[in-house]
Amino acid sequence: MNFRFIVFLFVLLLFNPGLSDAQSYQNAKHHKCLKCHSQQTYSFLNTVKGKEDKRLMNPYFILDTVAMSHGVHQQFDCTDCHSSEYGTYPHNGNLKLEPMSTCLDCHGGDASFATYYFERIEEEFKKSVHYKVYGDNFSCSKCHSQHTYVATARKSDNVLEIVDYSNKMCLSCHNDMKKYQLVSGHENPKLVQIHSWLPNQELHFTNVRCIECHTEVLDSLKVSHNILPKTKALRKCLECHSADSRLKASLYKYENLQKRAAEGGIKMVLANESYVIGTHQSPILKLASIVIFLLVLAGIIIHSLFRIIKKK
Ligand code: HEC
Ligand code: HEC
Ligand code: HEC
Ligand code: HEC
Ligand code: HEC
Ligand code: HEC
Ligand code: HEC
Repeated sequence: MNFRFIVFLFVLLLFNPGLSDAQSYQNAKHHKCLKCHSQQTYSFLNTVKGKEDKRLMNPYFILDTVAMSHGVHQQFDCTDCHSSEYGTYPHNGNLKLEPMSTCLDCHGGDASFATYYFERIEEEFKKSVHYKVYGDNFSCSKCHSQHTYVATARKSDNVLEIVDYSNKMCLSCHNDMKKYQLVSGHENPKLVQIHSWLPNQELHFTNVRCIECHTEVLDSLKVSHNILPKTKALRKCLECHSADSRLKASLYKYENLQKRAAEGGIKMVLANESYVIGTHQSPILKLASIVIFLLVLAGIIIHSLFRIIKKK
């Protein structure tokens, strides 16, 4: 490509008048909301004192602008979801009473999102321990931030990334005393102690999702949403560490991963960062091992035969 053309493209991008506030989340300093909501501190004009005041921002109100600019709702501006009254500070106290849209308010019954099965997910979610104990106080947003959500399991081709993304949702609450108490009113049981029966706990938590053990596998949904009571959690090692591992029907079922596996062939099996002992039995490797076994056996028989013949 021509150098001048590249410069032209760059200038075009820089001055693109169509670039809305929402698309420039990363340019936080100039964003009317993010100049406060992406910083540790914020300043505002104190009209009583008649001068600038500087305060600490509530850490839970500081948004991750990089994650937002990759999220599924990156095209939205803040005030598409929040009241435009937030444009002034101090914010009007009544804004705290404003009900927020839930996922289903926008996605329910919309054919363009049919492949996500939002209604089925809601049905399953309503059977989960979280909903059974806390009802509507436990909303979809407790796990999915509308600011940053990305459908990682169907977009990523890296098992470790999928696991990390998914588990962070659970850990962001189960390992955060304040968030957990906000929902439950009591202290969070320590996950490390609860799972002390599991060897290599850290390795497991980076290689399998919490939902693998805490939901039942469903064919009809990509991601099962019914978190079962702890008594029904999976504990049997062989459920995963066997040829017909349940991971094949859950974590490893995604086409995006399988496409990569198909392209990679044997290389994929050998190179995959997350290869569970006993699960991906490659037919070629299996055949090769049988052939080698038979050759060795044949070698032994022929060798013995010669020794017997020689003795005679
Ligand atoms: C001058 C800094 C500043 C600006 C600009 C600002 N906010 Fe805030 N915002 C705050 C602070 C501080 C809080 C914490 C609660 C409070 O003081 O009212 C807050 C709270 C909030 C909350 C949480 C309310 C709650 O209680 O749960 C929302 C939502 C919010 N802001 C949205 C916005 C939006 C949208 C914009 C832009 C249109 C914006 N804010 C602009 C400082 C700011
Ligand atoms: C797609 C809709 C959507 C957009 C766009 C959006 N928000 Fe939110 N926001 C929400 C919802 C829903 C909640 C309540 C989350 C909950 O219930 O836990 C929320 C909560 C908040 C809170 C309270 C803290 C928190 O995370 O719970 C702040 C602060 C906030 N938003 C600021 C902003 C700012 C600033 C922007 C723009 C940069 C923005 N929001 C864009 C939907 C949105
Ligand atoms: C205010 C309405 C609104 C709310 C609330 C909302 N969404 Fe969305 N969502 C949209 C719109 C509109 C799009 C399409 C955005 C685009 O194409 O740029 C979208 C896109 C998506 C996509 C990507 C679809 C695709 O294939 O491109 C997913 C996944 C998604 N939303 C999940 C959620 C989840 C989960 C929640 C609740 C935590 C939620 N949304 C809440 C309006 C909303
Ligand atoms: C206890 C946590 C939790 C709750 C509550 C929850 N989800 Fe999820 N959800 C997840 C996890 C984990 C994933 C997998 C994330 C990924 O990799 O895409 C997921 C994935 C999704 C997906 C993408 C599925 C796909 O086919 O790619 C959608 C859509 C979704 N959730 C919607 C919802 C809706 C709607 C609600 C509320 C009725 C909800 N979720 C409540 C944890 C939760
Ligand atoms: C290998 C399967 C497995 C994995 C992976 C797993 N768990 Fe568990 N979990 C269990 C089993 C089995 C129990 C029941 C333990 C008991 O009752 O002694 C349990 C118990 C729990 C409990 C109940 C705590 C209590 O006693 O009140 C919570 C909460 C929990 N797990 C959360 C998680 C989270 C979050 C993750 C992901 C970081 C996760 N688990 C990963 C199998 C698993
Ligand atoms: C916003 C906080 C929050 C998030 C996010 C969250 N949980 Fe929980 N979870 C709780 C609370 C609170 C309880 C305690 C319920 C009770 O009092 O029985 C709980 C209970 C549990 C239990 C134990 C159920 C029992 O029988 O005692 C399991 C298992 C569990 N969660 C798994 C998960 C998994 C897996 C995820 C992620 C997909 C997740 N949680 C996300 C707050 C959360
Ligand atoms: C939900 C599926 C699942 C369950 C249940 C499960 N594992 Fe694992 N296990 C995995 C995955 C995935 C890995 C990571 C594979 C790797 O990186 O080598 C792993 C790794 C291991 C490793 C480490 C292997 C190595 O390469 O260092 C050991 C040992 C192990 N598991 C033993 C167990 C035992 C014992 C149990 C039962 C108490 C168990 N696992 C239950 C999925 C599971």
